[in-house]
Amino acid sequence: MMFLKEDKMSENLMESSAMKTVEALLQENRIFKPSAEFVDSATLKDEKIYEEARRDRLNFWATQAEQLDWFEKWNKILEWNAPFAKWFIGGKLNASYNCLDRHIKNGMGKKTALIWEGEPGDTRVISYEEAYREVNKLANAIKALGVKKGDRVAIYMPMVPEAAFAMLACARIGAVHTVVFGGFSAEALKDRIMDAQAKLLITADGGWRRGKVVPLKEMADQAVKDCPSIKNVIVLQRTQNAVNIQQERDHWYHDVVKAAAEFCEPEKMDAEDMLFILYTSGTTGKPKGIIHTTGGYMTGVSATTRWVFDIQPRDIFWCTADVGWVTGHSYIVYGPMANAATQVMYEGSPDWPERNRFWKIIEKHQVSIFYTAPTAIRAFMKWGTQWPEGCDLSSLRLLGSVGEPINPEAWVWYYKFIGREKCPIVDTWWQTETGCILISPIASLTALKPGSATKPLPGIDVKVFTEEGGQIHQGGGYLALTAPWPSMLRGIYGDPERFRQTYWSKWHNDIYFTGDGAKLDDDGYLWLLGRVDDVMNVAGHRIGTMEIESALVDNPMVAEAAVVGIADEIKGQAIAAFVILKEGREPTSETEDILKRHVATKIGSIARPSKIIFTADVPKTRSGKIMRRLLRDVAEGRALGDVTTLADPVVIEKLKEKYQEA
Ligand code: PRX
Repeated sequence: MMFLKEDKMSENLMESSAMKTVEALLQENRIFKPSAEFVDSATLKDEKIYEEARRDRLNFWATQAEQLDWFEKWNKILEWNAPFAKWFIGGKLNASYNCLDRHIKNGMGKKTALIWEGEPGDTRVISYEEAYREVNKLANAIKALGVKKGDRVAIYMPMVPEAAFAMLACARIGAVHTVVFGGFSAEALKDRIMDAQAKLLITADGGWRRGKVVPLKEMADQAVKDCPSIKNVIVLQRTQNAVNIQQERDHWYHDVVKAAAEFCEPEKMDAEDMLFILYTSGTTGKPKGIIHTTGGYMTGVSATTRWVFDIQPRDIFWCTADVGWVTGHSYIVYGPMANAATQVMYEGSPDWPERNRFWKIIEKHQVSIFYTAPTAIRAFMKWGTQWPEGCDLSSLRLLGSVGEPINPEAWVWYYKFIGREKCPIVDTWWQTETGCILISPIASLTALKPGSATKPLPGIDVKVFTEEGGQIHQGGGYLALTAPWPSMLRGIYGDPERFRQTYWSKWHNDIYFTGDGAKLDDDGYLWLLGRVDDVMNVAGHRIGTMEIESALVDNPMVAEAAVVGIADEIKGQAIAAFVILKEGREPTSETEDILKRHVATKIGSIARPSKIIFTADVPKTRSGKIMRRLLRDVAEGRALGDVTTLADPVVIEKLKEKYQEA
């Protein structure tokens, strides 16, 4: 079994006095119990929620589902035909109705839904009533372009309110959205549109990032020219940069919305009707279209938003994720909006125009619950405490972390310098596939240990297994989910066999393999150890090693490539590529640059390798499988692990010499 080495901040990050404080706090080996003040003001005060879920898991989930508005109630809670699950069978609901209409009916129309801040500093405050109007009009506009229930719509947008409106408008008419992160390249967008056979694309002229325009429309044009399924493109004017408008195919967002009627009847969706497809990386070169359906997903995200974030009417919640990732789907759009939360949404970069942008936003908008990623926290640590110290962060009462294991140093720094020792931290483990948070503290009930995601949430069955499927009660192994949960993925779009193979074949067909390693400590606390498959987690972004290898061999200079994730102080993991060039090609720094650019063009700049090592060969097993574990040892300068299965041991010795030169 291969685990990532436990994260430790380097000497140079640990030097400052802030870091000495962190070290001292860590030495105390403290368990952080919820403060009386926090518990007093929290919604959940009693551990009986865990007991209720244990006693009758299905009815427990049904009680959660009842918190949504249904047009028709279900007649059966679960049908489990492993690995295929159906939840709330016969139930009818609409996700956009649950995020908008019902709040207005309940007299909350005037409540602020979104406080949006653009990177240049422009601000918009949007009430639930206004969001409702926008979504209705857009839904009618989409319908007028011929989109019907079940059709797929691709969304490629910056972080603007219209991205959320577009998702909700699709949900309103029963169209299936597939949001593609705005940092993905034209090719990556094309692949996803093609796989989903999307009919409509909703995009923008551009978005602001570090003072520059990200030319989304330009990229969309390149993608769409090879996508015959796309009949129409809706373009939001955000940055006002010049874009190419193709008559008939392209329509300005403001024009189509202006022409649309005010009300659009929400489609009565079956609980098991598809809500969205979201592509994520796996262990092959081709991303997987993860399918989520309506009833179970909405139940999972809305319940966990309440339990984990304790969102109350007075709270201002800020999740810094992009809507292009599952975190943005579940904890910007569907979870918080189903709970009528008031949220901050920010378009740009945390260091623009200065490294205190996030803290300024918290101060200005009085954010009380803040949810971000360890990679961001580690960057903040590096930038120094002077940035948060210069801002008033006293509105904060709860902090969250997501996307990768949070190392104890980063946890303690976050606790001390952002939470000012009064905010609990919820380290939330979950995946695109799980739909909602599955392992996390409930801040008012769970004692915290820095670096541990603590325990499964109520109604979630988690176990740690050995390779052979033996249960581990203490120590490390593979993280598995042993009972179905409402917001679980329902499949991989167009590929049921891959669904079965990837998630349900490691042990038994009713046990879900997460792809993560985890350790159980003496108190039964879970410590996530990172991926155990060929998937990397780079700055909280999930990227398959094979995807990057495919992108590299796509370049005519490359004969073969092997990619590994190596430890990185800020990003958690960075990408190292071992490349064998074709005969006659020179391993120069220019070649290295070309190849890095090539990967960025094929996938997006998040996938750009930080290091390319040219080599004559890569170590393989006798059956021809690349031994990434050994490459990781080489790249991280460790003693080599087991080499007994290696086809040609000389290869690795040569590589070691070579790498030390690089
Ligand atoms: O390895 C785990 C890591 O992120 C993976 C899921 O990535 P993705 O589907 O992109 O979703 C990210 C946001 C939910 C997991 O398999 N991961 C996510 N959260 C944590 C984590 N690892 C450790 N601790 C976490 N809190």
